[in-house]
Amino acid sequence: MSGFATGAIWREQLNSLRSSGGYKDAVELEGPQGPHVRMNGRDVLNLSSNNYLGLANDPRVVEAAKQGLSVYGAGTASVRFICGTMSCHRELETKIAEFIGCEAALTYMSCWDANIGLIPTLANTTDDAIFSDSLNHASIIDAIRLSKASRHIFQHQDMDDLESKLRSATCKGVRLIVTDGVFSMEGDIARLVRLRDLADAYGALLIIDESHATGVLGERGRGTAEHFGVLGEGTVQTSTLGKTLGGACGGYVAGTRVICDYLLQKSRPHLFSNALPPSVCCGAIAAIDILMEEPDRLAQLRSNTGYFREKMGALGFHIPPSITPIVPVIVGETALAINMQKALLHDRGAFVSGFGYPVVPEGAARLRCQISSAHSREDLDAAVSAFRSIGEKFGVIA
Ligand SMILES: Cc1ncc(COP(=O)(O)O)c(C=O)c1O
Repeated sequence: MSGFATGAIWREQLNSLRSSGGYKDAVELEGPQGPHVRMNGRDVLNLSSNNYLGLANDPRVVEAAKQGLSVYGAGTASVRFICGTMSCHRELETKIAEFIGCEAALTYMSCWDANIGLIPTLANTTDDAIFSDSLNHASIIDAIRLSKASRHIFQHQDMDDLESKLRSATCKGVRLIVTDGVFSMEGDIARLVRLRDLADAYGALLIIDESHATGVLGERGRGTAEHFGVLGEGTVQTSTLGKTLGGACGGYVAGTRVICDYLLQKSRPHLFSNALPPSVCCGAIAAIDILMEEPDRLAQLRSNTGYFREKMGALGFHIPPSITPIVPVIVGETALAINMQKALLHDRGAFVSGFGYPVVPEGAARLRCQISSAHSREDLDAAVSAFRSIGEKFGVIA
């Protein structure tokens, strides 16, 4: 048998991942997502989830999902345009558009799908050009790879570099500028106002992936545009229902009606893949309702984030400045991040994810903390105390 048939070639690569410390073991949760989770029969403080507003296990979200199952059954058994559009899809899309303050929205099975379904559909000829931040999410990178447009990767958040690439690109067709709203490894916020100006100046369409900004940034949680006071000014956004908005799965594109209509006709994940399960649609509708009706959650998230950032900074940890609940604690070497992650969990019952090269640049390995409105002050104090003892043990802080 060949090495392909026996799997030897991939086993070897797995072994090399193990020996380099890059092998990822999935932790298993024995119950729902929350500020605390059950792992190996133990209660663990959870600092590694995108459940920013604590809605993943909210009884109203769970009940709405159950109702969705009772009313519509398990699933669509069809792609969207054949016989797979249910009233709950339309209701969810109307709700998303109302929440974001735009004309229309279109749902996908995930934000990964939304990016894959949007970017190469809008720009797919060799006359087109796509400009993308170097730290954009993997789904944007893969979406761009699916397109025949020319690719122009600008340095992270470097608007001069973007402008010089916009200026020098020869492009007769569509121009897209694509950015994350909040960058998932850094926790920093895209320079939306400048990006919008450049998009206008060079006749480009700006696409912003709001997966870590929806329900997090802006007065009412409407994301990066609301944060900068430029809501409704002609960007297209993608986002996920799998983080703040209920935590199940699903994503969407939100913007103008013409783009959503065009995607319904042309976007391959719509044409060739089933629509969101109704339970997920109904759970997400409930999550958006809660977000719109309970602004206190957002205030709590901000207060928790500010508290944690301040306490950790005061201990001497290296944390890039931002206001988002993604709080990367930079420690340097990958092995150090992994060893600290293990010690935080085993010695202190705090679960934080460590990331090293190649997910982040060499020498910038980190423990990425994610804060939720559902964390209590005691949780945050316990997290800071765990970091203090493990940080001292490993010589990361004095
Ligand atoms: C910026 C960004 N975009 C897209 C995604 C993918 O979202 P989903 O899980 O809905 O596919 C993620 C998830 O990690 C993300 O952080």
